[in-house]
Amino acid sequence: MSTASLVRLVVLADDYAGYETRNLLAQHGLSIYIEIMDENSKIHKILFDTGQYGEAIIHNASLLGINLSEIDSIVLSHNHYDHTGGLLSILKYIKKKIPVIAHPDIFKPSIYISKNNIRLNIGLPHTKREYEEQGAYFILVKNPIEIAPGVYFLGEINRYYPELAPVLESNYTIENYELVKHKLLDDTGLAINTEKGVIVIGGCSHSGIVNIVEQASKITGSKPYSLIGGFHLLSMEREKIETIVEKLYSMGVEEVHAGHCTGFLGELLLMNTFGEKFKKIHVGYSTTYP
Ligand SMILES: [Fe+2]
Ligand SMILES: [Fe+2]
Repeated sequence: MSTASLVRLVVLADDYAGYETRNLLAQHGLSIYIEIMDENSKIHKILFDTGQYGEAIIHNASLLGINLSEIDSIVLSHNHYDHTGGLLSILKYIKKKIPVIAHPDIFKPSIYISKNNIRLNIGLPHTKREYEEQGAYFILVKNPIEIAPGVYFLGEINRYYPELAPVLESNYTIENYELVKHKLLDDTGLAINTEKGVIVIGGCSHSGIVNIVEQASKITGSKPYSLIGGFHLLSMEREKIETIVEKLYSMGVEEVHAGHCTGFLGELLLMNTFGEKFKKIHVGYSTTYP
């Protein structure tokens, strides 16, 4: 099993803008730039999610000294617009053929039905063909795959603890010409295997952050070490959040970098448990390993 010897993660899109670098733009969404050095000192660059507004990501990347044209691949955590909406403009900007890795359900219709029956497309805003015309080469897989040395696309997440996954009541899809609940089986994450353990990256964690961590640990054979991303503890009962936080702690997670859809109560409870090892992410936030 290969490991990444050096890892740098930089948040390019999040719901908060941060203040260390001036003029960064926030949005409801997530995008994380990943740079890893393999055992032969070769650098690999990956973009995890594309926020909803690509121009802001391009703007933030340039302020942070990141050249998006150098990325080797793009990973989409799931279909939602706040993770996929920036894909087309990023492809137009980087102007090259690039692998885009996601679950095969990523293009399944994703419809939000509000209480007053308003229906919105909350999935990818463009067609597969439109992305392909701008250079996307889709690798749609259910199974986990290694996309760079020590970096694993986790594939379809097994619901080891179904009761610990968030429920998204108002998200529907179309199956056999009928509107049915969207199970969001496309929701996944990334695992980066390091000597200290595995770094787990979640987009919205609709499949349950505990399930994602469990799968990351099983695939890499390493203990969970660090989490970063959105963990969707929003609008969840306090007791359920407490169970999730305790479970993460007992699984051996040592540090948590949370943002996007984690929610204020989730962040508070994570901070109570992880103390100094809890960090709130924002645009421009970066962390390195070791
Ligand atoms: Fe999200
Ligand atoms: Fe989502």
